[in-house]
Amino acid sequence: MVPEIAARAHLQTLVPVIERAMENAGTRWEQVDGVAVTRGPGLVGCLLVGVNLGQAIAWARKLPVIGVSHLAAHVFAGLLEEPDLHPPVLGLVVSGGHSDLVRWQQDGGIAVIGRTLDDAAGEAFDKGARVLGLPFPGGPAIDALAATGDPRAVRFPRPRAPGLDFSFSGVKTALLYEVRKRRSISDQARADLAASYQEAIVDALLQRVEAAQAADPAPTIVLGGGVARNRRLREAAGARLGKAARLVIPAPELCTDNAAMIGAAALIEWDRRGPDPAPFDADPSLGFA
Ligand code: KG4
Ligand code: ZN
Repeated sequence: MVPEIAARAHLQTLVPVIERAMENAGTRWEQVDGVAVTRGPGLVGCLLVGVNLGQAIAWARKLPVIGVSHLAAHVFAGLLEEPDLHPPVLGLVVSGGHSDLVRWQQDGGIAVIGRTLDDAAGEAFDKGARVLGLPFPGGPAIDALAATGDPRAVRFPRPRAPGLDFSFSGVKTALLYEVRKRRSISDQARADLAASYQEAIVDALLQRVEAAQAADPAPTIVLGGGVARNRRLREAAGARLGKAARLVIPAPELCTDNAAMIGAAALIEWDRRGPDPAPFDADPSLGFA
């Protein structure tokens, strides 16, 4: 990703995207009560384009504006599926840049109780896919190929990070050695490797969610982030977590980055703290707050 190009692409596409979204939804500006925008985390150039446009629209239309966290929004996306979603909630946010286990608490705050010590889960999928000669983004490619593979073909090591933290560099290296030690790889062997690798990541993620749930049970568990699109993760989560809690996994298109979840986050944050006084700045290293 080239930051300058990404920022410029935001500049070129944001206005047409907003116009198209309003048109598709059949919404007139008079019906809009406020503007929600991502304040962070992310690439500062992209965030600045959004934060400035959001505040410019609010100023021009005399609307209140609120800046929200992209990460918190992955948890609040659950609201789009379950309108009565409320804390306490145990959340797993797994994307290209983050693997965080969080608690959305009664006081409205979100506390991080586990994080990755090295790669994010999505990064582990993307790097593993490269090792297997699959295209970027690797998550969907591994997900698709794994459907025809045997998840028990290779027993990859489960990450051994302490407590509720994650670590994916070991399993990635194990895949690399497994590929290197073979002269050639048949299509079936590649599918088996993809399925086994995916199984190790999914198992590691769910094992931490189970441990957090055992320590302090929450009535609701929400999964979010691009990796929550993964079919094996969705299926295994249902089997392993669905009995003890209400499990909310938003539709795949609401798990990857999307603007609807920013709206959902705004609904919750608005009730908690009201709109933001403009002007406010982008925050590339913003956490869940
Ligand atoms: O949340 P997201 O759309 O963007 C970030 O904020 O990072 O997550 C992108 C990540 C990528 O690493 C991609 O490979 C992964 O989500 N991903 C998947 C699947 N679809 C996307 N990982 C596993 N299985 C999938 N089906
Ligand atoms: Zn994201």
